[in-house]
Amino acid sequence: MIKPLIIVTGKNGQLGHALEILSPKFLSSFDFLFVDRNQLDLSQSETIGPFFEKYHPQYFINCAAYTAVDKAETEKELAYTVNATAVRLMAKECAKINCRFITVSTDYVFDGTASKPYTESDTTNPLNEYGFTKLKGEQLAIENNPQSIIIRTSWVYSAHGNNFVKTMLRLMKECEEIKVVNDQIGSPTYANDLAEAIMEIILQFPTLDSRLLTNIFHFSNDGIISWYDFAVAIQSLSGLNCKVLPIPSSAYPTPAKRAMYSVMDKQNFINQFHIPLKDWKESLHECLKELGYL
Ligand SMILES: NC(=O)c1ccc[n+]([C@@H]2O[C@H](COP(=O)([O-])OP(=O)(O)OC[C@H]3O[C@@H](n4cnc5c(N)ncnc54)[C@H](OP(=O)(O)O)[C@@H]3O)[C@@H](O)[C@H]2O)c1
Repeated sequence: MIKPLIIVTGKNGQLGHALEILSPKFLSSFDFLFVDRNQLDLSQSETIGPFFEKYHPQYFINCAAYTAVDKAETEKELAYTVNATAVRLMAKECAKINCRFITVSTDYVFDGTASKPYTESDTTNPLNEYGFTKLKGEQLAIENNPQSIIIRTSWVYSAHGNNFVKTMLRLMKECEEIKVVNDQIGSPTYANDLAEAIMEIILQFPTLDSRLLTNIFHFSNDGIISWYDFAVAIQSLSGLNCKVLPIPSSAYPTPAKRAMYSVMDKQNFINQFHIPLKDWKESLHECLKELGYL
């Protein structure tokens, strides 16, 4: 039996890696090809067409992105090429061969001035270059492939790769006290939970088209916290001996502006796919366990 082929970009990133670890569970239904930048470099636009001609996938999950939020302020062109131009080309190639295109976007498409969680139809207004390029990617994907699925997520972490949780654990081992901003509010996302949600969406595709009302979905773990709250939980669950102190964002300037409130409303995702969201602390617990702290 020939199985549908799922191609996943960004295999060495947090989400791509989580999907690769999860994939053996689905091998009876799908073939997988995980690619890194050596096999498909999204900054080399001319290589995208030939890549699709070679593999002809049925599903394409784009987990690769230019994710260096601060560096994007100076590497604008590269960030745009990877996050917008390449997304346009991949979406277009998928449309040509009737391949379902899923790409991942960010809470940073919003400006953070809201006082309640952002819905998918709320006005976007990115504050930084990274958010701008990701928003352009969303728009170009839908324009070039109306069946694209865009999953906006936030504060992604996992046992693999670089992220806030691993940075905190390192600093907590090295320092007696650390200072963390307490006025940026959002929701963490454990990459393993997002990977499971994406596979569940793919399983639902055969019955999805008739009931799909929108292209964009918000996904994160459940709960609303500050980075400081997150750091306190990391400290208390890991048991590391370090004091965590709250500071305002004004005391920690960064090249890229951050939204102060980037909580997303996930009801649309829950209604559409009937996948429950895990509580952020439960998922943090799982990640710390994977890292050997529990
Ligand atoms: N991390 C977060 O907090 C966060 C928050 C909101 C949304 N998101 C979105 O979620 C998705 C997954 O993020 P993540 O956390 O898994 O990101 P990540 O760990 O930074 O991984 C990004 C991946 O993209 C690859 N990549 C970068 N430039 C590339 C290029 N020119 N060609 C091919 N591959 C390239 C990287 O390859 P190398 O390993 O070779 O560098 C890496 O494997 C992204 O769309 C991101 O924008 C992330």
